[in-house]
Amino acid sequence: MRPGWGILPAPSGGPGAAGEALRLEAVSHRFPGGDQLFQPISAVFAPGLVHAVVGPSGSGKSTLLGIVAGWIAPERGTVWRPAGLRVAWVFQNPHGVARRSALDHVVFPFLAAGRRRAEAVPPALALLRQFGLAATADRSYGDLSGGERLRLMLARAVASRPGLLLVDEPTAQLDASAAATVNRAIAQMAGAGIITLVATHDPKTSAACHQVIALRPPAPEPDGDGGPGPGLDGLGGRLGQSFRPGAGLLAAPAWMVSAVVSASRPVPEAD
Ligand SMILES: Nc1ncnc2c1ncn2[C@@H]1O[C@H](COP(=O)(O)OP(=O)(O)OP(=O)(O)O)[C@@H](O)[C@H]1O
Ligand SMILES: [Mg+2]
Repeated sequence: MRPGWGILPAPSGGPGAAGEALRLEAVSHRFPGGDQLFQPISAVFAPGLVHAVVGPSGSGKSTLLGIVAGWIAPERGTVWRPAGLRVAWVFQNPHGVARRSALDHVVFPFLAAGRRRAEAVPPALALLRQFGLAATADRSYGDLSGGERLRLMLARAVASRPGLLLVDEPTAQLDASAAATVNRAIAQMAGAGIITLVATHDPKTSAACHQVIALRPPAPEPDGDGGPGPGLDGLGGRLGQSFRPGAGLLAAPAWMVSAVVSASRPVPEAD
């Protein structure tokens, strides 16, 4: 392990820190005039776990993140969201202020939360270290590489103490070596007490996550309306028996609908 990289500490207090999970029950969506995007999803997103959302382009990954965030009301199904959940986003094209230092970017959320700069710098530096960015603290954002920028956005998002972190295609614009550093940072999100969802095409990114939700195109409707899909209990039980970590996700039988949840690696303990 690279020096300075470690599991993030769990936040002490604040929305989302109490350990409440976010749940989807038979959620599906279609935009007005459009087709149903994916088969109904039932899933539990727990704090401290990193969940990948995978599927072909146009399958609805970003839409699902928007539903989870509460930006988009799903056409069907129920989203159970912890009260007061604070949401942070990290997009594939990171937006920073070119002339501001990396440290400034991570200090800012602490200032916004009411801390003085002298109080904000130590935790901001600690976050930079945890994301492998200690050496960049005084460098301008404009001078950082793509992978560094993306990791800086993750560090800044964590500094804002969200209960839910949504990361959309974090490695889409990066070469393999920069993507590897980002995947490593994503893997480290475990233990921060944050519900993290990562929409991705990148198998190495989904391999860095604990659970994988595979979006599937809707099955042709038989005679009725297809029903809402199985609930959480039935789905969870059957998945528990049917799947092995990281294997067989795309070979799920038709009844499995789209919420294929598989533990892909153990959850590390927080320090
Ligand atoms: N606000 C909207 N109104 C109508 N259609 C939309 C809207 N947002 C997305 N769509 C459509 O819904 C479908 C799913 O879009 P979405 O962006 O969720 O897919 P995605 O899986 O994230 O794709 P990609 O991998 O390319 O990012 C697409 O066909 C898209 O054009
Ligand atoms: Mg998308």
